[in-house]
Amino acid sequence: MGKVYVFDHPLIQHKLTMIRDKNTGTKDFRELTDEVATLMAFEITRDLPLEEVTVQTPVCDAKAKVLAGKKLGIVPILRAGIGMVDGVLKLIPAAKVGHVGLYRDPETLQPVEYYVKLPTDVEDRDFIVVDPMLATGGSAIEAINSLKKRGAKNIKFMCLIAAPEGVGLLKEAHPDVDIYIASLDEKLNEKGYIVPGLGDAGDRLFGTK
Ligand code: PRP
Ligand code: URA
Repeated sequence: MGKVYVFDHPLIQHKLTMIRDKNTGTKDFRELTDEVATLMAFEITRDLPLEEVTVQTPVCDAKAKVLAGKKLGIVPILRAGIGMVDGVLKLIPAAKVGHVGLYRDPETLQPVEYYVKLPTDVEDRDFIVVDPMLATGGSAIEAINSLKKRGAKNIKFMCLIAAPEGVGLLKEAHPDVDIYIASLDEKLNEKGYIVPGLGDAGDRLFGTK
């Protein structure tokens, strides 16, 4: 079964509180989302493989570690996932970026796929799927289905805020996928919004309504 990691780092929690605040405007919301994505990426890359090299220091030759060059891919779920991409790329700039476009039908809450573009070597890459919100879980499950259908084997899912309902369904649908969360909130409301949440992530990020 996939593991669920909730990041309780003080910097992440502090910035997340500012993101939740309804008085935080688009510019600050965008900057804070970017910063939290970077902090989360630091933790999520903790298990990247290393290899040993020899480096010449000014004093002597030394055996030291460098990244083994694992191929990585970041896949934002459009739209709101876009807000987390640059933050992750700051730490892993060589990663390729795929996109999965999904929106939640406001009536049925079911995800509707409208766009998929992934790196050509899907089978050789490890992927981090990013989206600020994991609510019912439908969008994350569908995005990961889409990646797996095209050959992706190793996938992590990273979000700012998750509802217990979404975490449960995502674990059930994709038991091989580890889930990384900045906050596990209380519940979903009758409209499928996370409580207390942050509202509509896409609208707050892009200044739409
Ligand atoms: C939001 C959010 C997730 C999805 C989560 O996107 O960014 O993708 O809802 O909900 P779920 O877990 O119930 O599927 P939305 O559909 O509002 O699209 P947008 O990013 O284009 O605004
Ligand atoms: N999507 C959002 O943007 N916010 C929620 O609370 C749930 C789904």
